[in-house]
Amino acid sequence: MGKATTCILAIESSCDDTSAGVILDGVVLSNIIASQAIHAKYGGIVPEVASRMHQENISLVVDTALKEANVALDELDAIACTTGPGLMGSLTVGLSYAKGLALSLEIPFIAVNHMRAHVLSHFIDDPKPPFPFLCLTVSGGHTQVVLVKGNDDFEVLGQTLDDAVGEAFDKSGKLLGLPYPAGPLIDKMAKLGEPRFKFPIPQIEGLDFSFSGVKTAIMYFLRDETKKDSAFIEKNINDICASIQHTLVEILTRKIIIAAAQYGIMEIAIAGGVAANSGLRDKLTSLSKEYNWNLYFPAMQYCTDNAGMIAMAGYLQYQAGNFSSLNTKPYVRGM
Ligand code: KG4
Ligand code: ZN
Repeated sequence: MGKATTCILAIESSCDDTSAGVILDGVVLSNIIASQAIHAKYGGIVPEVASRMHQENISLVVDTALKEANVALDELDAIACTTGPGLMGSLTVGLSYAKGLALSLEIPFIAVNHMRAHVLSHFIDDPKPPFPFLCLTVSGGHTQVVLVKGNDDFEVLGQTLDDAVGEAFDKSGKLLGLPYPAGPLIDKMAKLGEPRFKFPIPQIEGLDFSFSGVKTAIMYFLRDETKKDSAFIEKNINDICASIQHTLVEILTRKIIIAAAQYGIMEIAIAGGVAANSGLRDKLTSLSKEYNWNLYFPAMQYCTDNAGMIAMAGYLQYQAGNFSSLNTKPYVRGM
């Protein structure tokens, strides 16, 4: 490797994915992700188990990220790491590792906000959205419409008042007997079905979201139908999945339409795990024709939690001279 202008190692461990990546002059060279399948048997993430798994995985994940990028420790200019929002124990594992490495290599430490990094994942590949743009950040922990005015200038216009949309996918899937995380499975089965069952769209003012009512409606619907026919779910699984997905996508896209009109912005981006959903992508694609939007989807590997997006956020902070103290603490909430 020739001498890098800026080479950064990034670490992400906010939830249940242990990830490390290397970025060289704004180009992501590696993005290694170790997912924790163990949570499937509990039907959701067990925080204690997640932090222990991060501890088991982190050294190998970091070594692999450096090896794949063909970068040695002494070539690094900074270490970036997610400091929140996320699970306290999970964050602490990545953060301690990152701080330790920065301290021993005597290079700067860069604290990265996970939600901002999801938005900045759009700057990894082309085409990159011009400022200002709207970003719908949709994951297992968050649902936000963000007005992005610059690399470091974010305004949250609306967010969920209860469950995140990924959680709504996962909890609905649980009611159907699907393993965690159910989002990708619902997506797959929805492709084979028709959205012929109707669930209510919540009437929430402004740009905020709510998903708990839909989840309850689905629960009562399934209870009533399975009382009449115990094989109802089995017989109609594809149509039920298509109906759930249709409803959740409808809730999300209605707010984007309002935000785009209200702020007069035609540049629309989506980020986060649920941005992988094909129903959401299809619906936004058809809306973009109707409203003349320019759409931005990150590559699939940069939608779900990944260190590539932390590396990009870290690189932009490095360029701005935005370094962090080794006393930086992890946090559960905040953008
Ligand atoms: O961004 P992410 O990896 O982690 C969080 O920060 O939460 O998002 C994970 C969420 C899970 O709820 C998962 O079910 C959902 O993203 N997800 C999907 C799809 N792929 C992942 N939901 C719907 N359709 C998908 N294709
Ligand atoms: Zn995330």
